[in-house]
Amino acid sequence: MDIDSTEAFRRARAWIAQAGDHIIGGERVPGRGVGIPVIDPASEEQIGAIAAGDADDVGAAVQAARDCFRSPAWRDMAPAAREGLLLRLADLVEREAPVLAAIETLDNGVPYPMALAMAGKGGPSAIRYNAGWARRLGGEEVTPSVPGRWHAYTVNEPVGVAALIVPWNAPLAIACNKVSAALAAGCTAVLKPAELAPMSCIRLVELAHEAGFPAGAINLVDGTGIAAGAELAAHPGVDKISFTGSTATGQGIMRQAAQRITRISLELGGKSPVVVFDDANLARAVPGVGMGIFANSGQVCAAGSRLFLHDAIYGRFMEQLCAFAAGLKVGPGSQQGAMIGPLISAPQRDKVSAYVAGAVAEGARVAFRGDVPAGPGFFHPLTILDQVDPAMRAVREEIFGPVLCVMRFYGDETLEALMQRANDTEYGLSAYGWTTSLERAQVMARHLRAGSVKINGSGMEFALPFGGFGQSGLGRENGRAGVLAFTEPKAVMIGY
Ligand code: NAI
Ligand code: MG
Repeated sequence: MDIDSTEAFRRARAWIAQAGDHIIGGERVPGRGVGIPVIDPASEEQIGAIAAGDADDVGAAVQAARDCFRSPAWRDMAPAAREGLLLRLADLVEREAPVLAAIETLDNGVPYPMALAMAGKGGPSAIRYNAGWARRLGGEEVTPSVPGRWHAYTVNEPVGVAALIVPWNAPLAIACNKVSAALAAGCTAVLKPAELAPMSCIRLVELAHEAGFPAGAINLVDGTGIAAGAELAAHPGVDKISFTGSTATGQGIMRQAAQRITRISLELGGKSPVVVFDDANLARAVPGVGMGIFANSGQVCAAGSRLFLHDAIYGRFMEQLCAFAAGLKVGPGSQQGAMIGPLISAPQRDKVSAYVAGAVAEGARVAFRGDVPAGPGFFHPLTILDQVDPAMRAVREEIFGPVLCVMRFYGDETLEALMQRANDTEYGLSAYGWTTSLERAQVMARHLRAGSVKINGSGMEFALPFGGFGQSGLGRENGRAGVLAFTEPKAVMIGY
């Protein structure tokens, strides 16, 4: 789509103002009663409204997904046809990226260039990656040892109706991932976007219909976590829940799922360590560490929020990191040059501020505190705290904001002891290391307890599984594991 960003924002606003319905069985279904306001966190203005879904809406969406799952049109669709539909969806997302990105920026505050990268590159790339699995999910043949003559094999069948519950921090990217994995596996789905940033998910489901997915293959119910999300997670017609969000909500979903042994995948919070050695390439490590915590205003589950810095480079690194942070322009995501946007909401901003205030009251030092634009918007200054204690709440809990806690380590500390400090968290989503020593890289890769370990870099690779140890979650997304999570293995023995 060859349009400039001004035109993209104009189209996005016009679309948001009239969208906000559920999408059930291929049809727009308006909400009943009072809707939920859609707020632009950079201006604090209402730019639209979504339906406040309830048990009836959830019931209708699950029924539509179940009907489609049982229909020959979906059940007997050739894997190559499913792959083709997903590839077409990826093309549509890519084509529509300028407007989709503007929708995301207006709804959750992410700076436009980052939204554009997710809509134009990350999203389509994830969908295309998963599309390829539609034709490659075959099982295996086994030669039985029990008496008799048998043909024995396994089949990876779609688990059924998948509930996809998405958070507000990167809704389009997360929805592209979940939707394409579920559909590639042959499931049908009900998507429940976050009430704080639902719009890009709604547009994605519209595009899926434009791509030609049959009515009911992918449905969407708007609404709050309590009224729509919890109803969906508890619905007996749901076979699998794929949830991304807070650990507390994930725990509630796991408890619910126990009632009917509903399958679950949980992508939850993190408090990821970053270890920078004195032999690190600082020209790469400084921006890597800086963007690792400040990108998307720190509202990233895999954010590197606990920095362990080698004593020999402590002063130099901190100086460069603070200078890097000072150079990151904070402002409305639609504004030219803004690299960091607002937080999603006033409560989220206040929660982040409270963590900072708490740490300072306990003796932490504010090594850096950036500026925020005057005027409206849920902005929080970029903040670097040092002289922190590992027992502080700001060091232990997921802040989900632009706050980095820095700790020091010394050259005489054993790698083992250092890894124990890095692993001293209930979470285990990601871990990062910066070193040019192969030896240290190998030791870190082996000893860091996290679902993803990245040495000398960051970012998402769809071919690799993503998920957490400990309270960071259960199961994996991405990679082969991410699609298999929407399947049920069936063992078949045929005697002859
Ligand atoms: P949340 O985890 O409650 O919300 C995520 C999604 O779950 C939303 O779609 C929401 O509507 C839905 N949901 C909420 N309650 C539900 C329930 N009982 N059953 C089913 N679905 C439910 O996160 P929330 O309340 O938006 O933010 C709270 C805190 O969680 C944030 O301040 C942040 O610290 C953290 N968070 C972490 C995320 C991560 O990726 N690690 C993502 C979002 C929030
Ligand atoms: Mg919003």
